[in-house]
Amino acid sequence: MKGKRALVTGASSGLGVAFAKLLASWGADLIITARREENLQALAKELRDKHAVDVKVQVVDLSEPDGATKLWDATEGAGVTVDVLVNNAGGGLHRDFVDAPWDKLLRQLQLNVVSLTELTHRFARAMLARKQGWVLNVSSIGAYTPSPTYATYSAGKAYVRDMSEAIAHELRDTPVRVCCLCPGGTLTEFHQAAGHELPKIFRATFMSAEDCARIGLDALFAGRRNIISGITNALSMFLLRFLPRRLIVALAALTMGKPKGP
Ligand SMILES: NC(=O)c1ccc[n+]([C@@H]2O[C@H](COP(=O)([O-])OP(=O)(O)OC[C@H]3O[C@@H](n4cnc5c(N)ncnc54)[C@H](OP(=O)(O)O)[C@@H]3O)[C@@H](O)[C@H]2O)c1
Repeated sequence: MKGKRALVTGASSGLGVAFAKLLASWGADLIITARREENLQALAKELRDKHAVDVKVQVVDLSEPDGATKLWDATEGAGVTVDVLVNNAGGGLHRDFVDAPWDKLLRQLQLNVVSLTELTHRFARAMLARKQGWVLNVSSIGAYTPSPTYATYSAGKAYVRDMSEAIAHELRDTPVRVCCLCPGGTLTEFHQAAGHELPKIFRATFMSAEDCARIGLDALFAGRRNIISGITNALSMFLLRFLPRRLIVALAALTMGKPKGP
């Protein structure tokens, strides 16, 4: 990764921090982005000190309609080339669809779906023109199961998975690789940010962010188009193919539990 630059979105916590740390440890220069500047600056300092790599910080809200354009303008658009794009920023809201405030759902769709699509489009084109590049889009195992109380989240993640696999096929004969990582439960701030109180037993089965990020990056650089984190998750998603869809949705509802409030 020496001489290459990676852009990691959502690098102020969880998986994004793990992606950034791994890429820096492999020698990549970085652009890290999210909303919480303090977290980003602390990570940037740590990575510069530890790995002697160049780390730029960009504070951008990707739930804003112009967030992705701003990020492009401040990076590749300003001549800072990006060889590896990790579209990791994302979030959910643990709420029944009709109880969720529309503006929150809209922001979630902008973040998880629209901004991710715009960034993939802009950066993949630039990578193709330079004849080299890698894009890792972070989806979820929620992509495989319509999930009550996370209806728009799981549908958005299905979009991310399907779009990524289709683009990976379109680009198969080019030097640009696109891969989709579908994490299962991972120890990050995700559920807290979504207002989801998980039973402790669930968290005990979760993977570390470091392991999950490594699985995603290994798959990307191995040329895979889709990877589910962990053998148990992969096997479960495979077995789901043989169940009736209504049952899958009912099982997902059981797993997600009831939201705390309207
Ligand atoms: N953890 C899991 O169990 C799990 C399972 C499946 C998939 N995933 C996916 O993994 C990805 C990473 O999430 P995580 O688990 O690491 O959760 P996390 O710790 O909550 O991290 C989410 C990251 O996204 C950033 N982000 C949130 N809203 C943003 C906005 N409006 N604009 C820009 N950045 C924003 C956050 O930064 P700021 O708050 O500073 O903006 C943070 O850096 C997400 O796409 C999530 O859907 C997670």
